[in-house]
Amino acid sequence: MKIESIIEKLNNKEKLTKEEIDYTVVNYTNGLINDEKMGEFLKIVKENGLSYEETFYLTESMINTGEILDLSNIEKTVVDKHSTGGVGDKVSLLVGPIVAACNLGVAKMSGRSLGFTGGTIDKLESIPGFNINLENEDFERIVNEHGICIISATKNLAPADKKIYALRDEINAVESIPLIASSIMSKKIASGAKFIVIDLKVGEGAFMKNIEEASSLAEYMIKIGSYFKRKVVCVLTDMNSPLGFTVGNGIEVKEAEEFFNGKREKRLEKLVIELSSHMVSIGKNIKLEDARREVINSLNNSSAKNKFYEWISAQNGNLGKLSLAKNKLTFLAPKDGYITKIDPLKTAKLLYDLGAGRLKKEDKIDLEVGIEFIHTLYEKVEENTPLINIYFNKKIENLEERVKELIKIESILKDEKDIIISVIK
Ligand code: URA
Repeated sequence: MKIESIIEKLNNKEKLTKEEIDYTVVNYTNGLINDEKMGEFLKIVKENGLSYEETFYLTESMINTGEILDLSNIEKTVVDKHSTGGVGDKVSLLVGPIVAACNLGVAKMSGRSLGFTGGTIDKLESIPGFNINLENEDFERIVNEHGICIISATKNLAPADKKIYALRDEINAVESIPLIASSIMSKKIASGAKFIVIDLKVGEGAFMKNIEEASSLAEYMIKIGSYFKRKVVCVLTDMNSPLGFTVGNGIEVKEAEEFFNGKREKRLEKLVIELSSHMVSIGKNIKLEDARREVINSLNNSSAKNKFYEWISAQNGNLGKLSLAKNKLTFLAPKDGYITKIDPLKTAKLLYDLGAGRLKKEDKIDLEVGIEFIHTLYEKVEENTPLINIYFNKKIENLEERVKELIKIESILKDEKDIIISVIK
């Protein structure tokens, strides 16, 4: 077999066989196919797409280049959740304890932030003492004892994806639905869960800019799931504004704690209840409405809150010692009106420049800086009352002008967009 003939077939829009796709993935991962040839392959895939079958084969080959986690020592049914990446996305810190309080297992591997996207592992690392690197036995023991454990994704899961993703990034071939679907699903399947809920973000602050593309990505991921006998539900959610009251690391953990203690930003609460309900519904094989009742009960009777504190302690975290940057500036609303937009990309860029952004995986970031929206989307504000707090350790240029650009205030509130766009299963 030769990569040149595989590329020619792709170019002629002929379907590739399982063997041809496996040959390409395996030999690119071990270095026998170079970046130039693989780049050609990926660019044609981006241009012409792949059939569902070809995407299954691609996913399978990428999974088989690495470890596949065995969760059979975990007694509870394990349900996983994945977000395609948003701004202010602290959702795993919230749905994890809720789903564990509903007596399912959350055995999760998460990542760090890169570029403008946040990462659950950085958020957890802002809690002094919190251990994100655990051996398998401790990981399994904590899930068995407490129902939830979240660790860093350091395992050798789908290494082909790492190499291919880095090349896609370099040659501008990230935005391809079959490539994104196989990339996400290869890691999810290798990490062992049989039930997966995907929070598929749509909008300015997300990979998927419109509902049509997002729906097509959802179809690909669901079909890949059923090929591997995994139940996958995709919830399409709005990412035209940051989630919740805060964006940062330590500050988002504080928001999660406040959430369990009753201070909940409305759109975030709706999203968390929706995702948790789908996780409980598929994990227990019960009706969505029954699952939703269990989820809301766990919030009302404090079992989710207790689970949150129990989990943080089980991984050695000391929430009492979590600190934010000492310098705080408060910005006032420039006029009366309704908040009609909070710009997700400008918010992410500002946080990045405050010190929370990383260019390379190894870069150290400032976990103490953060942005707090005292009022959020669609709320009414009054001129000269506090609107935004910035927590910072270093001064940056034009801070005031940049903060002003984050929020749009208008005199009339027109269309309020629901955070849940649709559910595809
Ligand atoms: N996230 C991934 O893991 N892979 C992609 O290709 C895009 C987003």
